[in-house]
Amino acid sequence: MEHDTLVILGAGYTARVVFPLASRRYVQVFATSREPAKNLPTVAPDQRLQFDLAQPDTWRNIPERADLLWCFPATPPEAVQQFAAAANPSSRRIGVLGSTSAYDVGRSTDYPPPWIDETAPVDLTKPRVRGEEFLRLHCGAIILRVAGIYGPGRNPVTWLKTGRVRPSRKYVNLIHVEDLAAICLATLERGIPGETYNVSDGSPRTWNEIFDWSRAHCELSLIAAPDVRETGKRISISKLTEQLGYTIQHPDLFKELLGL
Ligand SMILES: NC(=O)c1ccc[n+]([C@@H]2O[C@H](COP(=O)([O-])OP(=O)(O)OC[C@H]3O[C@@H](n4cnc5c(N)ncnc54)[C@H](OP(=O)(O)O)[C@@H]3O)[C@@H](O)[C@H]2O)c1
Repeated sequence: MEHDTLVILGAGYTARVVFPLASRRYVQVFATSREPAKNLPTVAPDQRLQFDLAQPDTWRNIPERADLLWCFPATPPEAVQQFAAAANPSSRRIGVLGSTSAYDVGRSTDYPPPWIDETAPVDLTKPRVRGEEFLRLHCGAIILRVAGIYGPGRNPVTWLKTGRVRPSRKYVNLIHVEDLAAICLATLERGIPGETYNVSDGSPRTWNEIFDWSRAHCELSLIAAPDVRETGKRISISKLTEQLGYTIQHPDLFKELLGL
């Protein structure tokens, strides 16, 4: 690593997995929260920082020249720009976790849906996407367009059981949180500033497939499938695997679900 300090901005679900990994690669790792004492009980007090994008007086808590891993939605864009101006971005490497929801698939009804790579247009009507694009174009941030995150405590079978999602022909792209954490560090280490990388396990599945597997393995009762015409997306990760050289460690969703 060029820099020896990393600050994880917004230490929630993903950051908790990034933190121990990062501690092996950086000399110092800090995690931020808007309420550090309450929300970061497992982080040593001297590694906790208070940071709130909406509270400029907390911005000075971020050490100069430290790399930044931005783990919450980069919005509102005005605050993102003001924070970036205060943070001297040219002296750091910055990784930003975005979402595959940024891709604007328009009204395409092709099925199965076409593969989407990083050249696909993004939806700039979304404030978060504008925040990310500002950071990418003006601060050299590396944007990760992240698929649905699963892992311990975030189980797609539970999402079906509780009705958060329903079986349908719609495609979903998922990434195990341990892969996401490793990819965050890989991009900070060797990603190209100003580039975007899609992050998924490379195997889009339909909710029907996940539902059928869940019925067979997890005692899921029959759920009425609404007549969904949405196609979903199929996210390509060729850039991640070929240019960044990352090998997905958890490619088999169903094998992982057995262990959650
Ligand atoms: N969940 C998914 O399936 C999914 C899919 C694609 C992309 N993503 C994106 O990936 C990123 C990481 O996801 P995650 O689920 O690990 O996030 P998470 O658990 O929600 O953690 C993010 C943390 O950031 C802090 N935060 C929120 N707003 C903030 C603000 N305005 N200023 C400073 N800190 C703020 C919050 O902690 P405090 O309350 O302690 O401050 C929050 O717990 C997020 O940007 C998310 O939108 C998630």
